[in-house]
Order: sequence, then structure tokens, then C-alpha cells
Amino acid sequence: MPQQQQKETQQNIRVVSGIRPTGDLHLGNYFGAIQNFLYLQEKHTCFFFIADWHALTTHPRPAELGYATQRTLQLYLACGLDPQKATIYIQSHVPEIAELYLYLNMIAYLGELERCPTFKEKVRLQPDNVNAGLLTYPVLMAADILIHRAQYVPVGKDQLPHLELARDYARRFNHLYETDLFPEPQPYTFQGEPIKVPGLDGSPKMSKTGSSEKGVIFLTDPPEVIRQKVKRAVTDSGPQYPGQPMSEPVQNLFTLLELVSSPETVNYFREQYQSCKIRYAELKHQLAEDIIRLLTPIQERLKELEANPKQLQAIAYEGATRARTSARETLQRVREAIQIGLKGETPPPVPEPLTL
Ligand code: ADP
Ligand code: TRP
Repeated sequence: MPQQQQKETQQNIRVVSGIRPTGDLHLGNYFGAIQNFLYLQEKHTCFFFIADWHALTTHPRPAELGYATQRTLQLYLACGLDPQKATIYIQSHVPEIAELYLYLNMIAYLGELERCPTFKEKVRLQPDNVNAGLLTYPVLMAADILIHRAQYVPVGKDQLPHLELARDYARRFNHLYETDLFPEPQPYTFQGEPIKVPGLDGSPKMSKTGSSEKGVIFLTDPPEVIRQKVKRAVTDSGPQYPGQPMSEPVQNLFTLLELVSSPETVNYFREQYQSCKIRYAELKHQLAEDIIRLLTPIQERLKELEANPKQLQAIAYEGATRARTSARETLQRVREAIQIGLKGETPPPVPEPLTL
């Protein structure tokens, strides 16, 4: 295929993904999600959003939700998501998603939603708040994806059961209404295994909802906090013989080093470990400095964005407008397929997206 044509084909591929605004983003989100978004925005038609409706399922305090939504948007931009290259928006600014969610709820079955592993996990974690939004979380996620008729969805492993349901709903809708409107969205997998960033506390996954704060490096952590956290990272008493296999906490530190440091640095410390000469304090010092080097430009851009709330609003507004144009196109076709409303009607005017 000629190069130009190939480029256009790539550009025609639609990608959707989002993150719930549940707190400051951390290194796990950066390497597991954002870095992939940065790569994809160069090649495809991307829609990246902040899933604030999804966050409501766990009843955040309003002030916390408001703060986290704004913060996540600032961090998306500070990390390099570019509104010129991707459509960046806040889910609740696009009411068309809620309408599609309603239609999809009619073809989503109770049994399959109750069987979803993430629902079962939430029932275990919050037995006093098993709300209907939690049960239909995958339906809303399917609406997020199908509203742009996306083909690819870059997500972590934990989200695959949701994606499976999104594919079921796409298929079911197409079958029931005899249309080929929705492609079946596939998980976007990169070469090799998806990255799992470990915690500094010995836990296998850095997470703002799972592990303790001490094990998590937030993208907003100042240098002295990063140094402290890395210094306190769990290790062991050191290798006793050459070639001794690494304990999990030490392996975790090497995984982090591989993500943020140069191959020479990683090799140097690997050799030191193999020959039992390693000093964990030296490794931690290097790791902390390399994390700081990665985060400094992001934090600088964040400061600029914080100083300019009008710019943030303008970006959110522009993103919502573009997302709604795409969403309305799909919704119009959905309405036609279902034959809901009056034939040939002019859809009622849609209100302006709300600002932050
Ligand atoms: P958390 O586990 O901190 O609550 P989320 O569930 O909000 O994070 O995750 C948002 C995105 O970041 C998802 O795509 C998820 O796969 C990715 N992610 C989160 N933590 C990690 C991690 N430790 N390693 C790799 N990816 C991660
Ligand atoms: N459920 C996802 C998470 O917790 C966030 C999300 C909501 C999402 N809607 C989406 C991800 C649509 C991809 C596509 O990480």
C-alpha cells in the first residue's frame, strides 16, 4: 500500500479510552495508560476523556470529584496529550453518552452484569453501596466506546471483561436492529505483555486505590517526597551468592529502573547485583533522581496550566464540542435504527457543553 494511503488508513482507526478522576495520577497510570495515549495520538483518531460519571459509582465527595476532574485534565495535558492531535474531554460534558447508555441498558442482561468480576469485587469492597450504577458500570463504558464507533480501546488487563461486554452489546445491537453501525471494539495491545508498574512497598501493582500511599509515586510529588519514598522502598538483605534470584521487592525496583533509567544504568546495577556488590542505597538514589528527571518537565507544565484556568476551560470546551459532533452523528444513526421519536424530525437543539 502506498505510504500516504497507509497513513490515511491508520488515521481512520478510532481509539477511545478514559481514566476515572479518583485522585492524582501516579507512575502506574503514566506508564500503563498515558504513555500509550501519547503514542496513539500520533497515529489514529483518538478520543481521550475523564470518566467522571463512572467515578460517581463510589460516591466521591463533590469537592474531591471537582478537584480530581480538573487535576486529571491538567495532568493529561502536562504529560503531553495534545488537543491538536486528540479529542480530549470530560465525559459529563457529552450528554449523548447518557442517551446511548439508556438504549444499551435495554440489551444488557442482569445475569451477565452480576457475573462481571469487577462488580463482584465492588460488592465485596463496598457491601453498603451496591448501587445500580455500579451494576451497569460496563454498560456506561460500552456507551463511551460505541458513541464514537471505536475499533480500539487501550486499557489494562483488569478492564478486559468490560470490553468483552462492549463487544457483546455492539453485536446484539447490530443484530436486533439489523444494522452494521457498531464495530466490535478490540483491546489495543502493544507488543509484548502490558506493563504493570509495581509499588515501592513490595506490592505487585502501584495503585491509588489498592496499595498504601508510601508505595505510590504521584506525578505531582515534589523531588524531596520522591527521594523519601524511594529511600523507604522495601528491599532485602542483599544477594548472598552470585546469580541469586531477586526477591520480589528488589525485582520491583529493577522494573521501575527499567522504565525510567538508561539501559547502561540498568545494566550497571544488574551486574552489581549479580556479583553481590550492589548497594541498594546507590540504586535508590539513582532511581529517585531518574524519576525526578522524568517528572520535572511534567510538573513545570502543570504549573503553567494551574496559572491559566481559562486555557483549561477553553480546551475542555473545544474537546467537548468535537466529541459531541462525533457522538451526535452516531446517536442520529442509533435513533434511526431503533426508529425512536418521529420520522424525519429535526433533533431538538442541544445545549452548550457546561464549563468546569
Ligand atoms: P488505580 O489502580 O490507581 O485506581 P485506575 O484503575 O484509575 O488506577 O487506572 C487508570 C489506568 O491506569 C488504567 O488504564 C490502568 O490499567 C492503568 N494503571 C493503573 N495502575 C497501573 C499500574 N500499576 N501499572 C500499569 N498500569 C496501571
Ligand atoms: N473503567 C475504566 C477504568 O477504570 C475507565 C473507563 C471508563 C474507560 N470508560 C472507558 C476506559 C472507556 C476505556 C474506555 O480504568
